[in-house]
Amino acid sequence: MKEFIFSYRESCGIALADLLALAEEKKLEAERLLLADLFLKKELYETSYASLAIPFDEQIRERVSAVAAQKKKFNPTVLVVIGIGGSSLGAKAVHQAVFGRLRTRVVTNIPLLYFAETVDADRMITILSVLEQELAAGNNILINVVTKSGTTTETIANFYVILELLKKYRPDDYAELVVVTTDKDSPLWSLAQCEIFTCLEIPKMVGGRYSVFSAVGLFPLVMTDISIEELCAGARSMVTRCLNDDVQNNPAMMSALIQYYHYQRGVSINDLFLFSVDLEAMGKWYRQLIAESIGKEFDKQGKQVLMGITPTISLGSIDLHSVAQLYLGGPRDKCTTFVTVEKNRNNIIVPHDVSGLAGRSFSDIMHALSAGTKGAYLKNNRPFCSVVLPEKSEYYIGQFLQFKMIEIMYLGFLCNVDPFDQPNVELYKREAQRILNVL
Ligand code: PA5
Repeated sequence: MKEFIFSYRESCGIALADLLALAEEKKLEAERLLLADLFLKKELYETSYASLAIPFDEQIRERVSAVAAQKKKFNPTVLVVIGIGGSSLGAKAVHQAVFGRLRTRVVTNIPLLYFAETVDADRMITILSVLEQELAAGNNILINVVTKSGTTTETIANFYVILELLKKYRPDDYAELVVVTTDKDSPLWSLAQCEIFTCLEIPKMVGGRYSVFSAVGLFPLVMTDISIEELCAGARSMVTRCLNDDVQNNPAMMSALIQYYHYQRGVSINDLFLFSVDLEAMGKWYRQLIAESIGKEFDKQGKQVLMGITPTISLGSIDLHSVAQLYLGGPRDKCTTFVTVEKNRNNIIVPHDVSGLAGRSFSDIMHALSAGTKGAYLKNNRPFCSVVLPEKSEYYIGQFLQFKMIEIMYLGFLCNVDPFDQPNVELYKREAQRILNVL
């Protein structure tokens, strides 16, 4: 298996020696050693770093695969995942990267995948009409409600709406068509026990935005025939690569150092520039990861710091025609990570000679556009680093997701904030529940 390539250009404002000196000054090695030690002693599960242990946990994959095998017997034509934030973004990212954004038709025996995230009535009516059409035609649908807390307002509201529809068409066996993914002992877990819904447990110490390799991400993915073995193999290979002590060959450490170095110099925007339309959802997954993990009012000692790196997502080459002018000419407040894909699933040749492009392949043109963009960033001294994914397969997507989760752990250490909590998100949830009087 190949590995993705991570690189950065020294000429974009930082020399390697600066990064190594920063690592030394901030004692980043101590954090790496802590992770490596917990990993070797198999003690990660008891800590906030538990997410690193999940791709190594065969029992999780066995349980998820067993439930999926049982549910596939019903031949569901549609799977609807009800969840929000960390409970939906990971599965969506992988599914979109592997199947593409425009997968609308049923591929033999693979259910269509829908996500019910917010309480937008117009969106929900569209989902309900698709579900009702299937049920009325005598087909089965499968509901996977995913919520770690078991209490998120949007998820609970959407769940009951969809459940009501399911009960109308399947009054006797609706319970068989529901899978609940939640923390053991959450309010939803208790409900699931009464209703005899199948339950998948989220390990206690694995937080929402770090949960893609748990049942949260794995169940919907395996239901749609995505190889969770390959996905987790990619993630495992990245744990080894990102816990290694050679900083230069450790992409998670390098990427965290680059971002922190620039952040200290007033560069507070992180742009993930993806040269692949099908990676947009992965960009959104990362946006949540960095925003919720690093955006903090208080540091680890409780001092008010108002820390944060603002994530943006750009899609190449579409957004070259909307934001490139700003990014190349505007304020020097952005650090970019370019993501390109070496080999797409398809290639197309331009047929007619209009501007010297006849006979050129889309992959050559896209390559020229991304290389040209990097060249322009270099010329204008705009900092960036690059990730080249060999392809958008499960293995490399697993690598990328794990690389980013470890990067954020190092970045949290450098920024001296807790990358695992989200107190201000909890604040909005409580306020909304107070207004709705459901506390
Ligand atoms: O990362 C997080 O913890 C959050 O984004 C949660 O995933 C999100 O708020 C949804 O919470 P829950 O899974 O409890 O419904």
